[in-house]
Amino acid sequence: MTKVGILVGSLRKESFSKKIAENVAELFPEGYETEFVNIGDIPLYNQDFDDENNVPEEIATFRYKMKQIDAVLFVTPEYNRSIPAVLKNAVDAGSRPKSESVWNGKPAAIISQSPGNLSGFGANHHLRQSLVSLNMPVLQQPEAYLANSAALLDENGIISNEGTIQFLQLFVDAFVALMEKYKG
Ligand code: FNR
Repeated sequence: MTKVGILVGSLRKESFSKKIAENVAELFPEGYETEFVNIGDIPLYNQDFDDENNVPEEIATFRYKMKQIDAVLFVTPEYNRSIPAVLKNAVDAGSRPKSESVWNGKPAAIISQSPGNLSGFGANHHLRQSLVSLNMPVLQQPEAYLANSAALLDENGIISNEGTIQFLQLFVDAFVALMEKYKG
């Protein structure tokens, strides 16, 4: 079983990113298990936490969870043309100490979304920049920028537009192919 951790870059209760991620989680084939990993209670990263005797419990728990995971799907909005601080904080918390980074070598894929027309391009590429430095093979194509995201979701948070579902399935299939390539 390949475990895919899903990290959502928004803590908002009615988050479009979270709802999109829930739709995408349904598209993985047999042999793949998805798990939403909470990043909302990770303290702001402070390099003093690099010291193994000084690691806050929430960070230890997050690192432990991420160590059990084989690959990561990020679904995020854009905040001021970059990624929300809560997501960057999770990336930073998992990256230390450097020799024990939870990210190293794990395949990743990014979906950015925006209820407006911009589609989170800035967030998508800022995140990509960090993941390259963390030695994560990041899915190149197809790129997933979802614009007008609110309109994609019905009142139950379901995406019903056929074209969008087909695109997201294509995206997941390409991510699965990437994960297969990097399997030990
Ligand atoms: C935003 N929003 C936003 N949208 C965008 O397309 N580009 C941007 O740079 C920003 N910047 C931004 C900054 C901050 C601080 C907030 C709170 C919001 C709007 C954002 O895309 C919108 O609120 C989404 O609904 C957030 O995603 P979730 O919470 O629905 O997943």
